[in-house]
Amino acid sequence: MKIGIALALTVVLASCEGRQSVLSPAGRDAEVLANLFWWMLGGAVVLWLFVNGLMLYFSRIRRKRHSLRVAQWFIFMCGVVLPTTVLAGLLIFALREMPQQREPGEGLTLRVTGESWWWRVEYWPDGADEPVTTANEIRLPAGSRSEIELAANGVIHSFWIPALGGKTDMIPGRVNRMSLEPTAPGTYRGQCAEFCGLSHAHMALEAVVMAPEEFERWLGAEARDARAPEGAEAKRGKQLFLSQGCGGCHTVRGTPATARVGPDLTHLGGRKSLAAGMLPMDRQSLVGWLSAPESIKPGVNMPGYDHLPPADLQALAAYLEGLT
Ligand code: CUA
Repeated sequence: MKIGIALALTVVLASCEGRQSVLSPAGRDAEVLANLFWWMLGGAVVLWLFVNGLMLYFSRIRRKRHSLRVAQWFIFMCGVVLPTTVLAGLLIFALREMPQQREPGEGLTLRVTGESWWWRVEYWPDGADEPVTTANEIRLPAGSRSEIELAANGVIHSFWIPALGGKTDMIPGRVNRMSLEPTAPGTYRGQCAEFCGLSHAHMALEAVVMAPEEFERWLGAEARDARAPEGAEAKRGKQLFLSQGCGGCHTVRGTPATARVGPDLTHLGGRKSLAAGMLPMDRQSLVGWLSAPESIKPGVNMPGYDHLPPADLQALAAYLEGLT
């Protein structure tokens, strides 16, 4: 039985690997949390072994004389002294680790706003007045501490990239702050961690950690206006984008589309995923999303365009895919 429990625990913990796992830390804050988890688990195992040892012991000596005094001693040791010592030790350890999680950022500041159900991401390169806006993907330089302002529009969300650090709520009407210090370049996955409506479960984000110089190049490119469409199909897609009213919700910098209701699409094709982590960024997913977004993300504000002929949807997707 106990071997079975140990095996089950091993399987459960082994499945905790991956790009959205607290137990595969890729940032200083996540390392502290993973460390804390293992110490807590160790403490829990010590307590579990003592309590079970106690039970086993008494199941064998219950018929002996003088067992009452022994029982009192065990109850005092295992019921009072041991839990107090172990839990106090773990509390002191946890309190010592906490301040590290509150260190302010030193270089980059960005703002992430929780929307229904996607993430607005804004950077201010070199103190610019106007933010460089993107969506559903945050990029951070490795090896430095970035400050993240967390806001929300409408309802509460919670920002959490388990491989990089702890989670913080995003509350309408106020700005919460957190800082993250990723250590290893890579792509990690974040997930909204506060129930926020019908598509809460469909509110993921990609977190791309880059070498500092690579990050600077990316931010420079991101600040530029959208590319002009190449090829007849994409050019027609741009005309459709403007004539179908997409600019009533979305911005594509450098075009007449400047609304801020939905995600900024200026460099959409350069992102790793579509619809807040739900679909890969490719032509087929774009067509599927444009024609029936409700089937992918129930309750979404984006209207479906399945009344358009397939050739028009393909043209729109060609334009959007080319916005790299
Ligand atoms: Cu946003 Cu749950």
